[in-house]
Amino acid sequence: NQDKINELIEKRAKAKLGGGEKRIDSQHAKGKLTARERIDILLDDDSFEEFDMFVTHRTKSFGLDKQIFLSDGVVTGHGTIDGRIVYLFAQDFTVFGGSLSETYALKICKVMDMAMKIGAPIIGLNDSGGARIQEGVRSLAGYAEIFQRNIMASGVIPQISSILGPCAGGAVYSPALTDFTIMTEETSYMFVTGPKVVKSVTGEVVSAEQLGGAKIHSTRSGVSHFLAKDDETNLLLIRKVLSYMPSNNLEEAPILSCNDPIDRLEDALNEIIPENPNQPYDMVDVISIITDNGEFTEVHRNYARNICVGFARFNGRPVGIVANQPKYYAGVLDIDASRKAARFVRFCDAFNIPIVTLVDVPGFLPGTGQEYGGIILHGAKLLYAYGEATVPKVTITLRKSYGGAHDVMSCKQLRGDINYAWPTAEIAVMGAKGAVEVLEGSNIRKIEDHSEKEDYIQQKEDEYTERFANPYQAAKYGFIDDVIEPRNTRFRIVRALELLQNKKDVNPPKKHSNIPL
Ligand code: COA
Repeated sequence: NQDKINELIEKRAKAKLGGGEKRIDSQHAKGKLTARERIDILLDDDSFEEFDMFVTHRTKSFGLDKQIFLSDGVVTGHGTIDGRIVYLFAQDFTVFGGSLSETYALKICKVMDMAMKIGAPIIGLNDSGGARIQEGVRSLAGYAEIFQRNIMASGVIPQISSILGPCAGGAVYSPALTDFTIMTEETSYMFVTGPKVVKSVTGEVVSAEQLGGAKIHSTRSGVSHFLAKDDETNLLLIRKVLSYMPSNNLEEAPILSCNDPIDRLEDALNEIIPENPNQPYDMVDVISIITDNGEFTEVHRNYARNICVGFARFNGRPVGIVANQPKYYAGVLDIDASRKAARFVRFCDAFNIPIVTLVDVPGFLPGTGQEYGGIILHGAKLLYAYGEATVPKVTITLRKSYGGAHDVMSCKQLRGDINYAWPTAEIAVMGAKGAVEVLEGSNIRKIEDHSEKEDYIQQKEDEYTERFANPYQAAKYGFIDDVIEPRNTRFRIVRALELLQNKKDVNPPKKHSNIPL
């Protein structure tokens, strides 16, 4: 018996070495951790249970029958994060460059199926040369099996992808289908076709980093939601992000105990809106003043910066925050900002996370660039996402809320549950300058003297501001539930969220919606 037990111990030790010491060293030399080291950081201590350690590939051609590695390039199993069960797979670059074989795909599918069965998040740690070339179409079929599971799991269990090395070709589509993607600076990249193919097809010369590095995807494409400086930071971010989420769509996110007073008055907020309506301020300052202990885990921090989205807590209760950011492009809504916020709103709604919206939006970005790019459809996504969402929705208008953008930003008629405004709010069809140009254009043109013209415009703008640039027109019609003192905002949000915790709202039965894509 002891011999058999020793055999097991030996096999386990062998499996744990993956592709062997030399390849582990070369992985370390690249500044990367191995699959098992990553799992150790990700999970609670001693919580990992591995599945399918003895699985090997079944390919005989290309001499592969002589290259057999236990686990076959991917480590799978389950463990806990903050005591809650998660399933995971970690691609092992030391075995065939982490490339995906048929049996490797089956291992991933097994943990995905288990995660769905018990309602636990699935985490993918990606570091792979893509489809295992020697296995041909079986490997492609393996990817599609994974994609299908990603699609079925979408909106049912949280799916998180870390990119910790190469992720190319078809492999990119599994992370793209998941809820959040976290890339590591300098060691990770994602592209549909690599630099060599790009050069041969289009003649364009570009490096892997410039084509699909972590920085590019975190700033230009929005493919990556978070940028981590190394593997460890990346893995710890997964833990943090998951802390705001329930394990599945039938549960609520965990509520933490809160030691930050809910009724602290913040005089700084009474002063934060500049006298000059065109002067920016930093919306993140507002967010950090009102949330529990100033916490804000910003998603897409470096992408479409004119809108901020991310997770925070109010009295221990996780929320998603969506906030226009006057510091960048005056907080205007454009294509990227609309897509970014729409996807975040839909994530929160799918997983029962209330949404707090902070509004200071001058409108949509005008121009051919935006119109040709389809701002109509992209802006509609955000509008749609808010209108479809049935989670508690609390909206605070801080300053501007103009035109179509007012409607889009969780207004009352899109089933906004509680809509408050600060006294500095300006809820109107447009700003004074634009309104006077439209309404007074013919009168203005008639005035020949320059300074007389300026005086007339100023007088009309003042009249307009006096009449419309305030929250009381909207409050008069009940579109705003109350005008609140800024320093009391934290308390009013906490109370609104508590009030709404048992809120029920439904959408009509349908196969699925037809959101403008
Ligand atoms: N299938 C089979 N083996 C693969 C592989 C794949 N898709 N990708 C990498 N490997 C193997 C390599 O042959 C190498 O094996 P060896 O050490 O026994 O020679 C090992 O994995 C490490 O790869 P290597 O190329 O030395 O690592 P690298 O860090 O220099 O480069 C990549 C990594 C991913 C850029 C490179 O391996 C590559 O371009 N792979 C192919 C990517 C691709 O087009 N995949 C199909 C897309 S679906």
